[in-house]
Amino acid sequence: MNGTRIADLGDHVGDEVTILGWLYNRRSKGKLHFLILRDGSGLCQAVAFKGKVDDDLFESLGRLSQESSVIVRGTVKRDDRAPGGFEIGVIDATVVHEAEEYPIAKQAHGTDFLLTNRHLWLRSRRPYATLRVRHTVIRAIRDFFDDRGFTLVDAPVFTPSACEGTTTLFEVDYFDDEKAYLTQSGQLYMEAAAMAFGKAYCFGPTFRAEKSKTRRHLTEFWMVEPEIAYADLDDVIALGEEMLCEIVARVLDKNAEELEILERDTAPLEAIRAPFPRVHYDDAVRALNDGGIEFEWGGDFGAPDEDFLSRQSDRPTIVHRFPAAIKAFYMKRDPEDERLSMSVDFLAPEGYGEIIGGGQRAEDLGYLQEQIVKHGLPEEAFKWYFDLRRYGSVPHGGFGLGVERTVAWICGTEHVRECIPFPRMLYRIYP
Ligand code: 4AD
Ligand code: MG
Repeated sequence: MNGTRIADLGDHVGDEVTILGWLYNRRSKGKLHFLILRDGSGLCQAVAFKGKVDDDLFESLGRLSQESSVIVRGTVKRDDRAPGGFEIGVIDATVVHEAEEYPIAKQAHGTDFLLTNRHLWLRSRRPYATLRVRHTVIRAIRDFFDDRGFTLVDAPVFTPSACEGTTTLFEVDYFDDEKAYLTQSGQLYMEAAAMAFGKAYCFGPTFRAEKSKTRRHLTEFWMVEPEIAYADLDDVIALGEEMLCEIVARVLDKNAEELEILERDTAPLEAIRAPFPRVHYDDAVRALNDGGIEFEWGGDFGAPDEDFLSRQSDRPTIVHRFPAAIKAFYMKRDPEDERLSMSVDFLAPEGYGEIIGGGQRAEDLGYLQEQIVKHGLPEEAFKWYFDLRRYGSVPHGGFGLGVERTVAWICGTEHVRECIPFPRMLYRIYP
């Protein structure tokens, strides 16, 4: 069907247009009905005058229930007081479907109720704005890598083994008593891709059997994972920094309206510029202790530690060279200090914590074979991976950016569950 999108009304002032939409809200005043319509591109007010439209229609518009689908024909005029800045003088309308009483009313509902009704909640303003920002973030990421000579190489979802530790693996029955695992990361496959394409990335859903109920954890989340051949840790860090600047700039450029709906203060986002502070793990530990936080060298940062560290700057904080013992098997050791790894985390400002994890990979076959054993991983599942160190092994590295955590930070959303269309969490797999 042909109609005019509400977002494009500015190009149609004075014209007669047809809006294909839903009734978002309605107010009536004597001989007037104010219909707030939404069509997925924005909101606009349509005004029906008694006497100007058919009497039966005028009456039925006055009874129209929230979320009824309706096609409205009318003339566009500019009106700064109307939501969206335009008003439509109704000439005619067709009610396509009269909605039953809509469960999501205008009053406040609890998050649990809203999440159970996520399929409908998507129509509300906050989810709408958040998911539009998500769309921009994903688009910006793809453009960023595509413009820099990266090749998109999709990683499999069914995998024969763990990449990020065995405690968060989802096991599934494959054929003939074989087990498979839902991917925790496409990284190992991207290492193969980097050796083939020089620069590659994958972008897809990732699974972690996280038994934690924090505001940062989903069991299914989206991750983009670039990997580059002939790269060291500094190259990986520079790439992450540039990418984050570009993502934030794109959202500021494209989503002013959405950020306003979310009541997001944009000043902290405007401050996101390179260079980001780079903090050695040793210095991070010192800063925590100096700040009165008890933390022992060798440990991994918990949410309060990340919180403290990220609040030292208005830009993302780059922490590098974590102890090898707390990182994955594939990390390269720091040649300056064997206890450390060439790893990096990017901590988002305003207390949003880790959004990027990555580093430089170990390129030595013998070392990796040892690590696989040390980490209790099945050697036969990694035979193919070892081949990458047999045939033209080079320094290489990359990172993974969690989309939902990034969107949560940019939108100023408390919990990542609102930053994915249909969240999967410890106690939620519906709808
Ligand atoms: O730090 P992680 O575990 O790193 C990796 O998986 C590497 N293999 C990536 C790579 O180097 N190619 O995860 C990367 C990012 C985190 O920084 C975080 O943003 C996100 O993925 N993430 C989660 N997001 C939501 N829910 C979870 N349970 C997440 N676990 C990780
Ligand atoms: Mg990590």
